[in-house]
Amino acid sequence: MGKPLNVGIIGCGAIIAQYLTTFRRLDQIRLVAVADLDPARAQAVADGYEGVRAISVEELLAADDVELVLNLTIPAAHADVALKAIAAGKSVYGEKPLAATTEEAGQVLDAAREAGVAVGCAPDTVLGTGIQTARKAIDDGLIGAPISATATMATPGHERWHPNPDFYYQPGGGPLLDMGPYYVTALVTLLGPVVSVVGAASHTRNQRTIGSGPRQGEQVAVNIDSHVTGVLVHASGALSTLFMSFDAVKSKSPNIEIHGERGSLVVPDPNHFDGDVQLFSLGAEDWETLPASAGYIDSGRGFGIADLASTPQGKEPRAGGALAYHVLEVMESILDSARKGTSVAIQSTVDRPEAVALTLLAGQADALQPL
Ligand SMILES: NC(=O)c1ccc[n+]([C@@H]2O[C@H](COP(=O)([O-])OP(=O)(O)OC[C@H]3O[C@@H](n4cnc5c(N)ncnc54)[C@H](O)[C@@H]3O)[C@@H](O)[C@H]2O)c1
Repeated sequence: MGKPLNVGIIGCGAIIAQYLTTFRRLDQIRLVAVADLDPARAQAVADGYEGVRAISVEELLAADDVELVLNLTIPAAHADVALKAIAAGKSVYGEKPLAATTEEAGQVLDAAREAGVAVGCAPDTVLGTGIQTARKAIDDGLIGAPISATATMATPGHERWHPNPDFYYQPGGGPLLDMGPYYVTALVTLLGPVVSVVGAASHTRNQRTIGSGPRQGEQVAVNIDSHVTGVLVHASGALSTLFMSFDAVKSKSPNIEIHGERGSLVVPDPNHFDGDVQLFSLGAEDWETLPASAGYIDSGRGFGIADLASTPQGKEPRAGGALAYHVLEVMESILDSARKGTSVAIQSTVDRPEAVALTLLAGQADALQPL
């Protein structure tokens, strides 16, 4: 392994803890600095992580020892922070979505191309053993030619647990832009790029009540559709049906199912890195659970950055900007279709990222060696 990648984080909110846990386990990444609009949040992170300094956003962008900026701000700030980091000559990796709109996301990709820096984006859950084992099952022909998929995400709303849930109910949020990246990225990883979509959307109420933290009981305004359905037409001809809701209570149906000519596959939760893949082959008596056969073992949020660090310069990382852009365009087009009542063609396309062999990355000096 070469020298570790020096990372600086902008945005020290709820999700940062998961990245800190990962970085402590990965020799490929060295966290050097953190920043937030609220300096106390950055200081609290630095106090708990040896060798990390809390500085202002401007200082972090100017820091010589920061090679990649990890952007953990809210979706409305994703593009602005990414563009500033790129202008400062840094590579960027952001939480999803890549930006609040495809227009902004396009600006990020253009700027990065011009500056010769890398762009990566969550979700990297698709690099874990769950989705990668399902992908291998499909690629190995276990279900024959894929025909269709269903993807279901049902929750009564993140305001029940998130102390500052405002952004989930503003443009750039909503069930589709918030949770859709996991599902649509998984569907593109499993079935390939999307060429057109049809969508329909609704919302139940204009206010939501914060359920925890210092603002408990406070109302937040709802400015997005909180229930979204759609059909994705993949370039392969396969059809995916999407159900993303902040209005439903619970779903008993699996997160993703893939149906092929000779078998059906239950794919584990794409918001998680692992989980069982189940196969029902044509003529079989019951479901069988497939052993984990591909993907980063025991992975967590941030493995996409280690993957990016090992990607040769000029090559698209697996959790890369082009994939995130395509996924964002698919999601935005579903909402566009819902408004217009017509099918919307997708302008962008992307290659399926290279499959991940079964690989132990964490705590391995010579990581990225397949088992
Ligand atoms: N909370 C989760 O469980 C979760 C899970 C997966 C992904 N995410 C994603 O992570 C991102 C952050 O979510 P969160 O839940 O941590 O949000 P949060 O509101 O808890 O934290 C965001 C932090 O970013 C800071 N910030 C906002 N704009 C900034 C700017 N321009 N410059 C510097 N700092 C800025 C805020 O002060 C805040 O501390 C979102 O894109 C979200 O979709 C969150």
